[in-house]
Amino acid sequence: MRTVSKDNITEAFLGYVAKDTDPRLKFVLEKLATHLHDFVRETQLTHSEWRKGLELLYAAGEISTPQRNEFILLSDVLGLSSLVDMVNSPDHGTPSSVLGPFHVLGAPDVPVGVDLIGDNKGVPVVVGGRVLTPEGEPIAGAELEIWQTADNGLYSNQDEAQAEYNLRAHMTSDKDGRYLFSTVRPAPYTVPDDGPVGELLHATGRHPWRPSHLHFIVTAESHRPLVTEVFPSDDEYLDEDAVFGVREQLVMEYQERNDASQLPDDLEIKGRLPSTFYVVDFDFVLAADTGMSQLLTS
Ligand code: BEZ
Ligand code: FE
Repeated sequence: MRTVSKDNITEAFLGYVAKDTDPRLKFVLEKLATHLHDFVRETQLTHSEWRKGLELLYAAGEISTPQRNEFILLSDVLGLSSLVDMVNSPDHGTPSSVLGPFHVLGAPDVPVGVDLIGDNKGVPVVVGGRVLTPEGEPIAGAELEIWQTADNGLYSNQDEAQAEYNLRAHMTSDKDGRYLFSTVRPAPYTVPDDGPVGELLHATGRHPWRPSHLHFIVTAESHRPLVTEVFPSDDEYLDEDAVFGVREQLVMEYQERNDASQLPDDLEIKGRLPSTFYVVDFDFVLAADTGMSQLLTS
């Protein structure tokens, strides 16, 4: 097309994409161009606004390191990471939620009933339940990756005062699909807001807080891997998570208990529990693997 106008530029772009382009790439790129062109037409985007957007992307690149990916954080606070998660989630089973940047491989293998509290300060909590199929059958031998912040809102890889794998574990569900551990209540924390994404949050009157949460990756043969989080029902940031990770089914009451024999599924903690502690009883339901692999988004 020679005479390109604001009304036909999308058509011109679509005409440039070779017919034999990979069909999925062609579809996604054509949709992207169509929405981006509509966005510019609808907003009547000015040169300075367009430049500001590009500067944000440049700054995101500049601040990114192998440990900090500002582009993923941008996707998180725009709700894109969660939306990709949701459109790729099966209809059955526990909803997925953001992976975040603080998962590390190599957490120690621990038995069901492990005491992760050790020297950690904070409110003692026992977390347990079952890994189940959508039909309610227990899944034995499911693997659970567990990680969380300490009471100070920091993960072990953000805090030199914590041991490398503090409050991180790799557990295998028992013959009845059960898992259980004692820990301390994780604290709410802020996503990094000292870069361009933080600037965007502050410019739009948004805060960078995430509600307290426990992270899990649950995997089992013939089932779709599940990346998710579990939130306490009394957290002040539940309705305004900076990265849109909260789902109703992932919100659990932390129930106060005074009797160490009242644990989920009659299991025992391999350690001493204080006289007062809280219990989170949460079952994971894994959808059957239909051959489509779940993409791990942040
Ligand atoms: C997290 O939950 O660890 C997290 C998720 C998104 C951005 C930052 C942190
Ligand atoms: Fe987190």
